Amino acid sequence: MTSAEPIRLAARAAHLPASATAALDARAKQLIADGVDVINLTSGEPAFATVEPAALAAIAAIGEDFTRYTPAAGIPQLRSSVATYLNRHGTTYTADHVVITAGAKQALHYAFTVLLETGDEVLIPAPYWVSYPHMVTLAGGVPVEVRPAPGGSLKITPEQVRRAITPQTRVLLLNSPANPSGVVYTREELTALATVAAERDLIIISDEICDHWVYETTFTSVAALGPDIAARTLTVGGMSKTFAMTGWRIGWVAAPAGVSRAVAAVQSHTASAPSSVSQRAAHGALTADLAQELNSRRTALDERRKTVLKALSDVPGVQVDGEAQGAFFVFVDVSKTYGLRSSTHTISSAAEFAGLLLSEAQVAVVPGADFAAPDHVRISYTVPPDRLADGLRRISTFVASLTT
Ligand SMILES: Cc1ncc(COP(=O)(O)O)c(C=O)c1O
Repeated sequence: MTSAEPIRLAARAAHLPASATAALDARAKQLIADGVDVINLTSGEPAFATVEPAALAAIAAIGEDFTRYTPAAGIPQLRSSVATYLNRHGTTYTADHVVITAGAKQALHYAFTVLLETGDEVLIPAPYWVSYPHMVTLAGGVPVEVRPAPGGSLKITPEQVRRAITPQTRVLLLNSPANPSGVVYTREELTALATVAAERDLIIISDEICDHWVYETTFTSVAALGPDIAARTLTVGGMSKTFAMTGWRIGWVAAPAGVSRAVAAVQSHTASAPSSVSQRAAHGALTADLAQELNSRRTALDERRKTVLKALSDVPGVQVDGEAQGAFFVFVDVSKTYGLRSSTHTISSAAEFAGLLLSEAQVAVVPGADFAAPDHVRISYTVPPDRLADGLRRISTFVASLTT
């Protein structure tokens, strides 16, 4: 277009910042397109195939022409199979509590939409998944960061939550296992946080999308902590990460029935419902016996996780923070490399570290600025073991090559 564009965007869209990660991602993709052997450790999804029962159920659904609008809350069989699936963690959901959405992302968007009045504050433990604050802002709310104490645990405490609460606080957002840090809160820690929420009459939104990806510890679902907690909790999850179904776009909210009805009403006026075929695929996966396959996938990722932790512990100047017991990420403080020189530049931020690692060692990692952690980079260990080992060697060689 030659002249200035006459369309003025609404403030809520105009002020949505472009992701700082996007530029690095674009550079990595360009290098790959140019034939450069980039090892991409940025992925937010496990590199497994979609589980077979999902694919077969989808094919059957298409064969039966199951291709029309579904009820806004999702097909009843899937709402029911999701409730059963969630209850393996000790919750007591029924189909009425569950609304099927186009991914956990849309579930979170609906949750904020039905809960927040303009100006309501949402407490978000930092470092956090990049989309949370923007979702809160889009729904008229105010994101409020709760930062863990320095020292590398990357977990927030009840005291920090208490200090962040104001008369406007309405929601405490929890995400365990966490993206980007990989930390997993214990049952005791979650109980303590949920107790503060109950004391101060806050709603809890618990993003449990990575509930399957937990190593050397156990997962706790917040709504399983007791009926009083369940009554103030919205559990968000989905098929994307556990079943390697990111592209199928099936997630859910499970919540007290009044909240679920409101979520379904919003969905009925916006998306209508998620894809009918994907819903049948999800139901196929949830009702198949996949325990063995999913466990062996978890073991495979756990081995890669251990490889990363071992390799990075031998690299001076980089420090894995948090216990990295969940999801598929390690979160690495690179601030000790600040002031060191690569062959072309002096490093002064994690973003620069990531940029130089890409241009000089051809390894892509995600800088932490978008996660409210500007001294960290996120390393994803979902790539095959040989590529991962090569990537770790390159990181080690790159850091060793830095000079004062
Ligand atoms: C913490 C977290 N929550 C939610 C989502 C959204 O997942 P979905 O694919 O189900 O929309 C992601 C995806 O990366 C995530 O990392």
